[in-house]
Amino acid sequence: MLAIVSDIHGNLEAFTTVLAEIERRGVTDIICLGDVVGYGPNPMECLDLVRTRCRASLMGNHDFAVFYEPFNFNSGAEQACYWTRAQFENDPDVARRAERWKHLGNLPVRIKTGEYVAVHASPRRPINEYIFPDDIYTNPTKFVSIFERFERLCFVGHTHVPGVFLEGPDFYSPDELDYRFELTDEKAIINVGSVGQPRDRDPRSSFVILTDTAVEFVRLPYDVETTVRKVEAIDELDNFLGTRLLDGR
Ligand SMILES: [Fe+2]
Repeated sequence: MLAIVSDIHGNLEAFTTVLAEIERRGVTDIICLGDVVGYGPNPMECLDLVRTRCRASLMGNHDFAVFYEPFNFNSGAEQACYWTRAQFENDPDVARRAERWKHLGNLPVRIKTGEYVAVHASPRRPINEYIFPDDIYTNPTKFVSIFERFERLCFVGHTHVPGVFLEGPDFYSPDELDYRFELTDEKAIINVGSVGQPRDRDPRSSFVILTDTAVEFVRLPYDVETTVRKVEAIDELDNFLGTRLLDGR
């Protein structure tokens, strides 16, 4: 069994809740699809947990933004990015600071095994391309091109909206699947959703468990009020980055 998490976004309350549930289920193998930092109030604590608990973590657009430069960010996200970078730079422990920068700068953009491909965003543009359910109607050629770029199973995050894309093209939310997708020979893109900032109007943390035969979608409530209060206490973080967590948008 493998747990796949993504888009933690510096939300320590959400991430520790998810890690405890993964441990409770006896799953020891965890991969993270990126965006460990950005938006939330505890980027370094989340990064340190990923470094110790996850087998691998991928480069997300917010990890990229903190290490290199923000690309296509709105002003709130950009400000959060510079605040996050300052947290890393202001750590007085020189050795730990260097370790964290080294980790961020060395994140891979893709994991490929015999069973699946995993990226932060899309198999075509692994750091930045959004795959939205609406694309099925508005951009069908995009789907053809994306499905050409992997063999059977592809795990993504990035949009913070969990679900399954089939080559049809079709999209199924976890709710429509009773939170379980049985694997077949059909190609599928699985969006694992977001641990730290869900955007499907369900404020609970999202992640998945992969077994030999199925993908299970898991949702977990966490102490969101604490995270909101932390965001509100940091001037550089827009209050909206807290309040949006309350209704999962
Ligand atoms: Fe993200």
